[in-house]
Amino acid sequence: MEKILVTGSAGFIGMHLCQKLLKEGYQVFGLDNMNDYYDIIIKESRIKLLKDYENFNFVNCDILDNSGLTRIFKKFNPDKVVNLAAQAGVRYSLINPQVYMKVNVLGFLNILEHCKKFNVKGLIYASSSSVYGGNQKIPFSVDDVVDKPISIYAASKISNELMAYTYGHLFSINTTGLRFFTVYGPWGRPDMAIHLFTKNISNNKPIDVYNYGKMKRDFTYVKDIVSGTLSAIKKNYQCEVFNLGNNKVEELKKVIQLIEIKLNKKARLNLKDIQPGDVKETFADINYSKKMLGYSPSISLEEGISLFIEWYQGQDLY
Ligand SMILES: NC(=O)c1ccc[n+]([C@@H]2O[C@H](COP(=O)([O-])OP(=O)(O)OC[C@H]3O[C@@H](n4cnc5c(N)ncnc54)[C@H](O)[C@@H]3O)[C@@H](O)[C@H]2O)c1
Repeated sequence: MEKILVTGSAGFIGMHLCQKLLKEGYQVFGLDNMNDYYDIIIKESRIKLLKDYENFNFVNCDILDNSGLTRIFKKFNPDKVVNLAAQAGVRYSLINPQVYMKVNVLGFLNILEHCKKFNVKGLIYASSSSVYGGNQKIPFSVDDVVDKPISIYAASKISNELMAYTYGHLFSINTTGLRFFTVYGPWGRPDMAIHLFTKNISNNKPIDVYNYGKMKRDFTYVKDIVSGTLSAIKKNYQCEVFNLGNNKVEELKKVIQLIEIKLNKKARLNLKDIQPGDVKETFADINYSKKMLGYSPSISLEEGISLFIEWYQGQDLY
């Protein structure tokens, strides 16, 4: 079975992907620097869960640490690499843009260099729906031009796609970029809306609702994201970029209503202006992903929120 190195394995998507790979019998090496952008306890709990599998190994390492990376690549000699390690979050990129350039751009370059040096067969990496910036044409297609990012986070993800192309051209490295659309589900990131809303509504606290609740997102359940990513690992195309979304747009207001119903509690809303850097609407055209990856999202927002809340209520982290 192939050996897969997953960076960002203590992260939300990283943990779910590792779990799926481990169940399928892959040898998985997880790497993460366990930073405190959000509560580290959730990251430690995710890793603890993965350590139950004997085909899993984990190392605390920063993708900015080249000698650490070299030791890992030498020891594990991965067939393929999935790069999920990144500074995530649009809003934080207005406060600390430097960390996005360091981790998402320089860190990604380090991964590309190691893939080159160690003859890795394929690199699959996380891009983002945010690359579409303020594009007016919806749904967003991978054929659309993406040269107007409206946050440094988005600019860093566009850079990744450009860098991946360059390494493919220069060194024949296979790369697949996955533009994830607002991923949610059990073990989800505590800085994202569905998690924040659930936590505050549960604790009878008000929630901040930007753009007066009119923000629209293509919310994608993590299991669907993992299926698309697994398919990208298996297909290992030469140089591709795919949208992984749900192909359905939902207003934030609807999300709040679904959480209220499931929690059987009324939300108190702090209605606010849209924040700088935020995109008003995201909507994935997934025709190309269907054709090339056999991607077919199957979890509705109703079902997904219900599954998230069941997880939230059953764990003792919060
Ligand atoms: N969750 C989403 O909705 C979403 C949407 C679009 C794109 N993405 C991208 O998908 C990837 C995974 O996102 P996530 O939601 O799981 O985020 P996450 O923050 O939960 O996971 C990222 C992980 O990377 C680790 N990390 C950060 N900097 C690192 C470094 N320098 N070295 C090693 N590890 C480092 C973090 O500790 C974290 O565990 C990211 O690249 C993110 O930008 C996520």
